Amino acid sequence: MYRIAVIPGDGVGPEVVRESRKLLGFICDRDSTVQLAFDEFPWGTDYYLSTGEMMPADGLAQLSGYDAILFGAVGSPRVPDHVTLRQLLLRIRHGFDQYINLRPVRLLPGIRSPLADVGPSDVDMLFVREGTEGEYAGLGDRIYRGTDRDVALQTAIFSRHGVQRAVRWAFELARREGRSVTSVSKGNALQYSGVLWDEVFAEVSTEYPDVESHELLVDAAAMFMVMDPRRFGVVVASNLYADILTDLGAAIMGGMGLAPSANLNPEHRFPSMFEPIHGSAPDIAGKSVANPVGSIWSTALMLEHLGHAAWSAAVQRAIQAAVASPATRTPDLGGTASTRQAGDAVIALLDHARETPRPEAGPPPVPGAAPAASPVPPS
Ligand code: NAD
Ligand code: IPM
Ligand code: MN
Repeated sequence: MYRIAVIPGDGVGPEVVRESRKLLGFICDRDSTVQLAFDEFPWGTDYYLSTGEMMPADGLAQLSGYDAILFGAVGSPRVPDHVTLRQLLLRIRHGFDQYINLRPVRLLPGIRSPLADVGPSDVDMLFVREGTEGEYAGLGDRIYRGTDRDVALQTAIFSRHGVQRAVRWAFELARREGRSVTSVSKGNALQYSGVLWDEVFAEVSTEYPDVESHELLVDAAAMFMVMDPRRFGVVVASNLYADILTDLGAAIMGGMGLAPSANLNPEHRFPSMFEPIHGSAPDIAGKSVANPVGSIWSTALMLEHLGHAAWSAAVQRAIQAAVASPATRTPDLGGTASTRQAGDAVIALLDHARETPRPEAGPPPVPGAAPAASPVPPS
């Protein structure tokens, strides 16, 4: 029995997480070997407005006994974003040492990318975003606030240990998947942190002579994602760069509503957290039009992480089949389905997706396949 902590959060978070939970409930009903128990936590902006905190002081201790966290989104115009995000989402990522944020960027068949003349075989990247340090370290200060001498310091942290473990994990993933690795940094302008990143990448790459490796400056990487997305296999980058590039990736794969992520503590010392990369989308919240696919796909990454690889693959195949038809797509993809109908469509296709043999006779390889069930930390 796995225990799952569910944090639906704000805006469209609860709407998309509802569909993910429905799908997991369906799987548990179908297969007695999948045993999941859910506890829901009401943490988010409403909780903050009534208690003064985004989660209780012992929130991490409460979550620490769970096997995984299913997260929706947080953020509301009613509270400054740096409060809501720092006190909940980033606290969990940092507190649980979720140093790998895996973000598949895949164009599914039938979805039109805004890039001209690209198809599914051209857009298939696995972003490995460092999740605990970099620009998000949360260190800094503010002096002379409110005066015309106002100064802000925001200190990034790049440690050899931190860069090394993210880069190694990326190489392990690339080796398993038969892909290249591209490192993204900015060593030409950032003579301390960027250069450390590049040095560590070069060192680690010598441990993987069988894996093709490349280095790009982040500005050029953004350009190549648009001009030549096929050059990317696994991409490893710091917290901020990969945050920005994966929104670009989401756009390239058809929209924010599709893109999944897994915040992993690869050693399983702490729970890992699974969430779509999109935010609370206040502009469409409450209208039942949010696309649940990013959340459902993240749930597939969770199933893989928990050792249910066959179900993970089935969910990803069912997603692929569901989004192929406008009738079962939400409006962001030019469809007519509501959030609920889009979630139901994935579930309705699950049994068939599960029975479809792979790989020869089945559909193309599973989109967004996560690394092995229990990603082994490279020593
Ligand atoms: P956003 O991702 O919420 O929305 C950007 C655009 O994508 C909007 O037009 C939105 O309608 C659309 N979109 C997002 N999710 C969608 C879905 N499931 N289906 C269809 N369309 C979808 O980003 P934002 O507007 O910059 O941020 C809104 C709030 O969310 C802010 O408070 C921000 O800080 C927060 N945020 C939270 C997370 C998180 O909790 N993980 C991530 C990003 C942003
Ligand atoms: C994401 C989000 C978060 C991030 C924000 C909301 C702090 O944009 O998960 O991509 O930047 O990590
Ligand atoms: Mn982001």
